[in-house]
Amino acid sequence: MIIRDFRPEDAEALVNILKANQQYGHPDMDGPEAMLQVHRCQAAEFLVAEKEGQVVGLIRGTFDGSRAIIYLASVHPDHQRQGIGRALVQEIARRFKARGASSISVIVPGDADFWKKMKFRQTTRVMHAFPIDQVLEA
Ligand SMILES: CC(C)(COP(=O)(O)OP(=O)(O)OC[C@H]1O[C@@H](n2cnc3c(N)ncnc32)[C@H](O)[C@@H]1OP(=O)(O)O)[C@@H](O)C(=O)NCCC(=O)NCCS
Repeated sequence: MIIRDFRPEDAEALVNILKANQQYGHPDMDGPEAMLQVHRCQAAEFLVAEKEGQVVGLIRGTFDGSRAIIYLASVHPDHQRQGIGRALVQEIARRFKARGASSISVIVPGDADFWKKMKFRQTTRVMHAFPIDQVLEA
C-alpha cells in the first residue's frame, strides 16, 4: 500500500468510496470538479491510498500558515481496519508538520472512536453555515 498525492484520474474511484461510506451528500463540495479545485489549491493536501494499483482511500485538508485541519477522510468499506486510515492521517500530519503546523484538527461527522485512537481530543465545537449566503444575510 502506498500513500501518494491525488491525481485527476483518481476522481471516479474516490466518488465511489465516498458513496460507499454515505459521505457523498454534497457532490458540489466533494465531487470530481471540487476534487480538481482542491488539487490545485496551494493550501490543501489531498492524498490517496493505493493498494495493488487500486485507489482505496482518501484524505484532504488545509494548512493556513499556522493551523492545519482535516476536512474529509474515507477508506473503502472492503479495506477498513487494515491500517489504511492511520497511514493516511499520519502522512497528512507529516506534510502539515513539514509546512510548520504544530497542531492538527479534524471535522468528524460521525463516530469519533477512530480519531480518539489517533490521539485527537475533542476541545471545540464545529458549526456550519450552508449555503454560505445565509451568513451574508444574517
Ligand atoms: C474512519 C476510517 C477513515 C478509519 O479507517 P481505517 O482504515 O478503517 O482505520 P485503521 O485500520 O487505520 O484503524 C486505526 C486504528 O483505529 C481503530 N479504528 C478504526 N475504525 C474504528 C472505529 N470505527 N471505531 C473504533 N476504532 C476504530 C482500528 O482498530 C485501529 O486500531 P488498532 O491499531 O489498535 O487496531 C474509516 O473507517 C472510514 O472511512 N469510515 C467511514 C467514513 C468516516 O467516518 N470518515 C471519517 C470522518 S471524515
